[in-house]
Amino acid sequence: MVELGCDWLGLRLANPFVVGASPLCDSADDAVALVDVGASAVVVHSLFEEQLIADQVSANRYLDSMIDTNAEAPSFLPETDVFSGSANPMLRHVRRLTEVLDVPVVASLNGVTPGGWTGYARELAGAGAAAIELNLYDVATDLDETGEDIEERQLSVVADVVGVVDVPVSVKLSPFYASVPNFVTRLEAVGAAGVVLFNRFYQPDLDLETLDIARHLVLSTPAELPMRLHAMAILHGRTQLSLAVSGGVHSGTDAAKAILSGADAVQLVSVLLKGGPSALARIVDELAGWMDAQGYRNLDEAKGATAMGNVANPHELQRLNYAQLLHSWSL
Ligand SMILES: Cc1cc2nc3c(=O)[nH]c(=O)nc-3n(C[C@H](O)[C@H](O)[C@H](O)COP(=O)(O)O)c2cc1C
Repeated sequence: MVELGCDWLGLRLANPFVVGASPLCDSADDAVALVDVGASAVVVHSLFEEQLIADQVSANRYLDSMIDTNAEAPSFLPETDVFSGSANPMLRHVRRLTEVLDVPVVASLNGVTPGGWTGYARELAGAGAAAIELNLYDVATDLDETGEDIEERQLSVVADVVGVVDVPVSVKLSPFYASVPNFVTRLEAVGAAGVVLFNRFYQPDLDLETLDIARHLVLSTPAELPMRLHAMAILHGRTQLSLAVSGGVHSGTDAAKAILSGADAVQLVSVLLKGGPSALARIVDELAGWMDAQGYRNLDEAKGATAMGNVANPHELQRLNYAQLLHSWSL
């Protein structure tokens, strides 16, 4: 019998399988069904900076109109009314999930510019979120903003969120940094507790008939996993941050690769959107079966077994692997 228990963000989980941020837990019944078949934690879909700012703007307009009629009226409003449109339903949802689930519920914020919206992390933690996942989905479009400017801006958002909560903050990153390992080190320095690697970049296509942008949300395939494995293998043992894989895990053997590369937790979305709770039950069984066959008694024995911690010169190894791969092609 193998033991799948693990630690992630300081939380003890029954196994490494976390339902990733998505509509999968929009209904409490669906979330319960996923936990019943083994989900060890759930991440709720994101609240976006833009939604929170829009809520604040409309609340401020309302407050301004009250100032004209009664100078003291705004002070009568309860604080939670500052956020209304998107935010309060999310607070209720997080609270509800914490009532019906006996696993950690992680709330997700999605934003990249410093501002008052980051304070909303405190409300989410107050509603019972065991951790905050902060998604830094950011596409560079400003010709004058340097990579360093972008990283500084993002770090200040992370520091703001970390500063208002006493639950762990995990940061979901894109793979597009000049140095992911360096940025991860800087995230650790501003108080993050973990990283989720990686965001998927939803690339819009062009419709040549209408000359319109064609937006299709394409679910992942296991082909997206190796890039994550690679990042895990570089980071494992070299950061105190919890490492979670997101992207391309569709089977227990995909999860085994993530753990061998150094992942503490494995987030699942596409495979569950396609296959429902039974896919999760299958994946848990597959991982346990693989560990048993390999003689691993627990996850710690397997974790990071193929990471790069023991390689003297990882940079040189990367160059060599690359050159060998190109030279292995013959016509
Ligand atoms: C329909 C859908 C909705 C998603 N919503 C969110 C979200 O609200 N916040 C977030 O950080 N990621 C969101 N994601 C991204 C997933 O959490 C995950 O990172 C991505 O799907 C890769 O994992 P997978 O290969 O297991 O699908 C969403 C993905 C899908 C398919």
